[in-house]
Amino acid sequence: MLLPDHIAIIMDGNGRWAKQRKHNRFFGHIRGAKVAYSIIEECAKINLKYLTLYAFSTENWKRPKTEVSLLMSLLLKHLAKEQKKLMDNNISFHTIGNTQELPIEVQKLLSETYEVTKNNTGMKLTFALNYGGKQEIINATKEMYKSIEDGKIKASDINQDLFNSYLQSSFLPNPDLIIRTSNEQRLSNFFLWQAAYSEFYFCEKFWPDFDLSDLNNAIDSFNNRSRRFGNIDSKLSDPPSPRVHQ
Ligand code: FPP
Repeated sequence: MLLPDHIAIIMDGNGRWAKQRKHNRFFGHIRGAKVAYSIIEECAKINLKYLTLYAFSTENWKRPKTEVSLLMSLLLKHLAKEQKKLMDNNISFHTIGNTQELPIEVQKLLSETYEVTKNNTGMKLTFALNYGGKQEIINATKEMYKSIEDGKIKASDINQDLFNSYLQSSFLPNPDLIIRTSNEQRLSNFFLWQAAYSEFYFCEKFWPDFDLSDLNNAIDSFNNRSRRFGNIDSKLSDPPSPRVHQ
């Protein structure tokens, strides 16, 4: 079975999962965080190279303050506790997004976890935190403009590879497979540039119910796709034209 190099997950449905069980939304996030760490471990065990989790979007600040605080405290609690598991599984930890706007104690833990795990050679785990695809593209454009002003590059040098190198996520390959739970079928400002040729897998389950069998179903489904990147499938191409005798 072919394993995608990079799986990115939009973990959605914590609130609805909790509501179905007549609990408050917090209950869903608490369960969702546990599921996130078990999926991280499963992905490392199958030797996935890159896993990116959309953990907090630039739009999530619109939620009630108490919910935002809970999400931040879940980040703090779990990441501190799971550092050993990251080491045991040879995982290096990274972030994308404007993390400098997160609470200072979260920022400290994120840099500490990066430092502690940076020499691990297995899976690269990236948390997208205070991340928005549009913001990432705007930031890259500003940086590129600055480079033009400083005379480092010329406007005529701009191409896809150069633009990509200005993105904060340029250390990651484009995601091969994007999974979204809770049966919502949209990107929600995630990896807008990078998803141009990603395969999508929409899972009906809410995130707190997502498990190894769902991960395997997503990978199976990926294996049945024919990725043509705008080209044609050689098996489907026209037969060679008959030779015309003169
Ligand atoms: C979507 O559920 C989930 C999020 C806002 C972010 C994901 C957060 C977690 C899984 C918990 C913390 C994660 C880590 C890695 C520590 P929702 O609230 O949008 O659900 P709803 O659409 O049903 O309301």
